[in-house]
Amino acid sequence: MRVTYASQIAASNVDLHVTEDHVEKVGDLIAEQARAGGSIVLTGGTTPGPAYRRAAATAPDWGRVTVWWGDERCVRPDDERSNYLVAKQNLLDLLERPPRAVHRIRGELQPADAAGELDHALDGAELDLLLLGLGSDGHVASLFPGSPQLDVENHRATSGPAGLEPWVDRVTMTLPTLLSAHRIVVHVAGAGKADAVAKAFGGEISRDVPASLLRVAPVPVEVWSDAAAAAKIDG
Ligand code: 6PG
Repeated sequence: MRVTYASQIAASNVDLHVTEDHVEKVGDLIAEQARAGGSIVLTGGTTPGPAYRRAAATAPDWGRVTVWWGDERCVRPDDERSNYLVAKQNLLDLLERPPRAVHRIRGELQPADAAGELDHALDGAELDLLLLGLGSDGHVASLFPGSPQLDVENHRATSGPAGLEPWVDRVTMTLPTLLSAHRIVVHVAGAGKADAVAKAFGGEISRDVPASLLRVAPVPVEVWSDAAAAAKIDG
């Protein structure tokens, strides 16, 4: 029997969904947004691939979608560390109709130049669905614990060094940009994330745990997690 429960964590706008069906659920909510059209912000890392494949299978027409990335590693787009490559292999190449626009963060450029390009492209953009992963250190996008990039408020995107592997420079949307999304979804799985989930969504809101800062957003933070990653959060 699959364990599925949802809870509104007290005193915060976190909707925690704990289910072993998290891949299907996240894939389906991505597909739902693709059918509706609008802007979808993708994440990188190892978690989202299966959900992307699910989304491509259930909603293969992305003709009304504008695709963004919340962050990118400063590598070429064909580098195995590229967040763009994760989406290309698990989503974009599987679609019957491609997105109307793809704002690839050009990781092959100098970090500041790639950040400036993203900052300019985001001017006036509305972000409908923001998909984020969660680092074991509590980072989201490439906003790492205690990093100066957390304090950038006069730009929509910025760049800086990695705070976790892979140790390459990063380009990232800034916190105000993340908080502006109309829907915020964090997809996390595995026992290795249990401490980060507990701190980010059950502990104090702190720059030391960047994901916790999502809780000041005007919209709920939806967390889709397996039981292992949610094992240490109270309630
Ligand atoms: C990145 C990602 C990052 C990712 C988390 C979780 O560039 O590293 O955008 O924010 O979502 O690090 O990564 P995993 O899914 O690989 O655990």
